[in-house]
Amino acid sequence: MKGIVLAGGNGTRLHPLTLATSKQLLPIYDKPMIYYPLAVLMLARIRDILIISTPNSLPSIQELFGDGSGLGLNITYASQAEPRGIADAFVVGADHVRGDDSALILGDNLFHGAGFPEVLRAAQQDLKGCVLFGYPVTDPERYGVAEVDADGRLLSIEEKPVQPRSDQAITGLYFYDRQVVDIVKDLKPSDRGELEITDVNRVYLEQGQARLVELGRGFTWLDAGTHLSLLEASQYVRILEHRQGVRVACLEEIALRMGFIDPDQCYSKGLELRQSAYGQYVMDIARSLA
Ligand code: TTP
Repeated sequence: MKGIVLAGGNGTRLHPLTLATSKQLLPIYDKPMIYYPLAVLMLARIRDILIISTPNSLPSIQELFGDGSGLGLNITYASQAEPRGIADAFVVGADHVRGDDSALILGDNLFHGAGFPEVLRAAQQDLKGCVLFGYPVTDPERYGVAEVDADGRLLSIEEKPVQPRSDQAITGLYFYDRQVVDIVKDLKPSDRGELEITDVNRVYLEQGQARLVELGRGFTWLDAGTHLSLLEASQYVRILEHRQGVRVACLEEIALRMGFIDPDQCYSKGLELRQSAYGQYVMDIARSLA
C-alpha cells in the first residue's frame, strides 16, 4: 500500500499564523503538525509515502524528513500549486499510487487511540473499493457525514448537510483500491472549482464498494485548522504526554517499534536532538528496546 500526506492548502482560517509559514509545520505541542498524520501511515505499515504541499512549503518539509531513510521510509515530494481539492491528491500523486492500494491522510489531522494499528490493519486487508473512517461529533453539519444501516453498511454520504442523518463525520483518512486514479481522472470540479473527495467516495458507494469503520469513543480525532482547534490539539497532546510519560506521534519510536529502523539508528536520531526532551525520549526508547 502506498501513502499520501496532503499538506498543501492556504490555511486561511489560521491567518496570520499561516501568512509566512505552512499550516502543517505549525507546532502541535512538541512537534510539527505533519508528524501526526505521518505517524498514522507508519502505524499502517506504509513506508512508501508521497508528501504533497505548496511550492513555498515543500523545501521546509523536505528539510524536516529528507528522503525518509532515517525513519526507514521512502519519502518523495510533489507540489500542488493551488488548492484544487482533496481528490486532486490523486491527480498530483497518480504515478505514485498507480496499480496499488493507497492511503490518503490530510496533513492537519490527528488520530489517537488504543488499538489503532489493529484497526488500520483490518481495514487494509482485502481492500475492495474504499474504506472511510467515521467519528462521532457534535457538529456533523461541518463535515462530510456518513449514514450506515444496522449492519454497518454505508447508505449515504453527504457533504456539510443542513440536516445530518447521523453524527458520523468522515475523517481525513481514506483507504482506496487501485481504481481511485481512474475515478479521479473522470471527476468534474465542483462549483467551488475543487475536486471533491466526497464525489470520489460517492462513486465507490454507488458501486457498493464503500465501507465505513466507526472509530468509537475510545478514539480521538482532531483537526487543527482553526486557532482554537490548534490550541486544543496541543493541550490534548501535552496532557497525555505529561500524564503518561509516553509521546504521541514520536516518529523515531514508531519506526523502531514497527521494525523500520534498529535501536542504533533510533539512538543516533535522538542524539541529534539531545538538547530537547523529545530527543532524550528517543534515546531512552532506543536504549530500552535495544
Ligand atoms: P482545509 O482545511 O479544507 O483547507 P486549508 O488547509 O487550505 O485551510 P483553510 O480552510 O483555513 O484555508 O484542508 C484540509 C487539509 O487538506 C489541509 O491539511 C490542507 C490540505 N489540502 C491540500 O493540501 N490541498 C487542497 O487542495 C485542499 C482542499 C486541502
